[in-house]
Amino acid sequence: MNTVYIREMYPDDIPEIVSIEKLSFSTPWSETSFRSEIYSRYSVTRVAELNGVIVGYICVKHVADECHLLDLAVHPDYRRRGIARALLDNVIQELRIEGCRFFYLEVRSSNYAARKLYEKFGFNMVGIRKGYYVNPAEDAVIMMMEL
Ligand SMILES: CC(C)(COP(=O)(O)OP(=O)(O)OC[C@H]1O[C@@H](n2cnc3c(N)ncnc32)[C@H](O)[C@@H]1OP(=O)(O)O)[C@@H](O)C(=O)NCCC(=O)NCCS
Repeated sequence: MNTVYIREMYPDDIPEIVSIEKLSFSTPWSETSFRSEIYSRYSVTRVAELNGVIVGYICVKHVADECHLLDLAVHPDYRRRGIARALLDNVIQELRIEGCRFFYLEVRSSNYAARKLYEKFGFNMVGIRKGYYVNPAEDAVIMMMEL
């Protein structure tokens, strides 16, 4: 079966997640970062499974009526199959239940794929953070969507 299954993230998932993280980012999160998100009561963490294998994940932090995308990646072999869309759809439902109204994120200005994904969801650019990223140095585009 090729249906993508979205479920909560658990500590046992972390090694698989970190291997995707390393393939996806120049400054990847550590195992400890994922562990602290899993245990935080202010975080929503999800993985996408395809045939029992983790192929993507998302972490979002929420406080009062605001939430912030912390991490989102899909394994390079499984991109352009709607997996990021399924992860975002899932967390947005949960964030609405949590009472979030404003969903913020930062994205590298050169990250065309992610910017397109967010635009498609209805995120709009609301600012630029100069020199926000390192390795390589780059500005962040700040985007926001009203839930
Ligand atoms: C960005 C990322 C998460 C997208 O994951 P994905 O599962 O491939 O995305 P989806 O298949 O759900 O794409 C949904 C829509 O986003 C847009 N999109 C996604 N990848 C795109 C690309 N490479 N080029 C143009 N548009 C793209 C399209 O509009 C797409 O819809 P379509 O396929 O019907 O045209 C993935 O490329 C990734 O993991 N990149 C590395 C990590 C990263 O940059 N994370 C975001 C940090 S802010």
